Amino acid sequence: MIYITRKEQFSAAHRMYREDWSDEENFNVFGKCSNPNWHGHNYVLHVTVKGDISEELGLFINLSTLKQIIKEKIIDKVDHKNLNIEVSFMRGKIATTENLAISIWNELKPAIEKERAVLHCVKIGETENNTIEYYG
Ligand code: NI
Repeated sequence: MIYITRKEQFSAAHRMYREDWSDEENFNVFGKCSNPNWHGHNYVLHVTVKGDISEELGLFINLSTLKQIIKEKIIDKVDHKNLNIEVSFMRGKIATTENLAISIWNELKPAIEKERAVLHCVKIGETENNTIEYYG
């Protein structure tokens, strides 16, 4: 089995908060990311897929196909957007990196399966120091 990882980057604004909490309560739980006037991150997204090599071609998924799927399903929808209000697959969810990773997984999975590959991991770095991984 071969694992292939494609890395992409996008910039997006967000606010982590619960609407039914005061700004102070939100700050106590979500910290700086609860700033009422939004803020941005330069997110780094790693998408890992796995599968078997075609003996005829010596490769597994075409990397330009994988790149295109991630661009269409994710990057075009999130880059330079507000995750809370402009991204359909984040609607109604707290804009944490955890929820973002799960949502991206759900968006990518059907398209990747059509290419006879298996989605293995969605990894998102929100800052240089914090990375979230989701394996389904
Ligand atoms: Ni933040």
